[in-house]
Amino acid sequence: MNITILGPGAIGSLYAYKLKQAGHDVSIWGRSPNSTVDIQLDHLPPLPFANQNLVVLKRTDLLIVTLKAWQVEAALSPLLPLLHPDTMILFLHNGMGSVDKLANALANFPVLLGTSTHGALRVNALHVNHTGLGETHIGAWNDKGQQCQFLSDVLHHALSPVKWHTSIQHALWTKLIINCAINPLTALENCSNGQLSEPRYRHQIEQIIDEAQSCAEKVDVTLDKASLKETVFNVITKTAKNYSSMQQDISQQRTSEIEFITGYVVSIAERYQLDIPENNALFKQIKCIEASWSKHD
Ligand code: NAP
Ligand code: PAF
Repeated sequence: MNITILGPGAIGSLYAYKLKQAGHDVSIWGRSPNSTVDIQLDHLPPLPFANQNLVVLKRTDLLIVTLKAWQVEAALSPLLPLLHPDTMILFLHNGMGSVDKLANALANFPVLLGTSTHGALRVNALHVNHTGLGETHIGAWNDKGQQCQFLSDVLHHALSPVKWHTSIQHALWTKLIINCAINPLTALENCSNGQLSEPRYRHQIEQIIDEAQSCAEKVDVTLDKASLKETVFNVITKTAKNYSSMQQDISQQRTSEIEFITGYVVSIAERYQLDIPENNALFKQIKCIEASWSKHD
């Protein structure tokens, strides 16, 4: 297949390399001004990728969007009119709501949503390490996307395991709630994920989960509170030594994905007039930190 990776950072470079290794014709669309970019994965030899090539983009079969959620609208909008209408577009980032912002422009493409628990770390702009083996879950956003189940086999062959969901909302909301529970708290406390297993955080984490679960219910996504809590605390234990993406973003004064994680839950709560004080407070605190940087600039 002809595959283009939009946003070839940590996770995008991992998928780019693995898909090319699996025999696909893979190109990237990144911010480098170079027409060819060499990407190295772990200690494997660097592989060359065409970058920002319009001819290649126009014939791409699959566009995988691995930008940060808040980068999606600005980066993808100018590319959509250039794509063939049959191009499948797969969004693979944390958080929810980026696709809603482009809903009209995306409606005629086969669109898929996914979530990944792989770990990838950029050593530098051209070198990425696969730091944690994970899973990829994908499913359709629209009817045309529903016809693209074969993509899970394509991706599974390159970077397993990949699971197809007839309804992806359940998997997306589960990941969203994991991120709501771990990311803002670790960013505010400036701590590793494992520190959240201390008993003093338990009540607050359970509140965050309960509130987010009630929002999911409003949009017809039924999640069991007890198993959600078990899942969140399992992730905290399994990733105890890791620093969450939001902790890293906030500590390095980079815009975080708060708007598409806690902010998404806050927007659902506003729509249905639900009271979610813990998530509201975390959202405001992270936004306040981000706003303070621009004031100093
Ligand atoms: P990242 O390394 O920052 O990758 C984003 C890439 O997009 C960067 O290379 C960035 O370029 C590029 N980009 C930004 N704006 C662009 C534009 N207008 N046009 C083209 N490229 C653009 O982030 P990441 O860690 O891969 O994360 C991506 C998403 O995957 C996030 O939602 C994250 O939460 C999720 N995720 C990450 C991991 C992980 O282990 N890293 C695991 C699971 C999920 P610059 O390099 O110039 O900034
Ligand atoms: O955003 C992150 O860092 C990850 O999704 C997670 C699951 C919280 C682990 O660090």
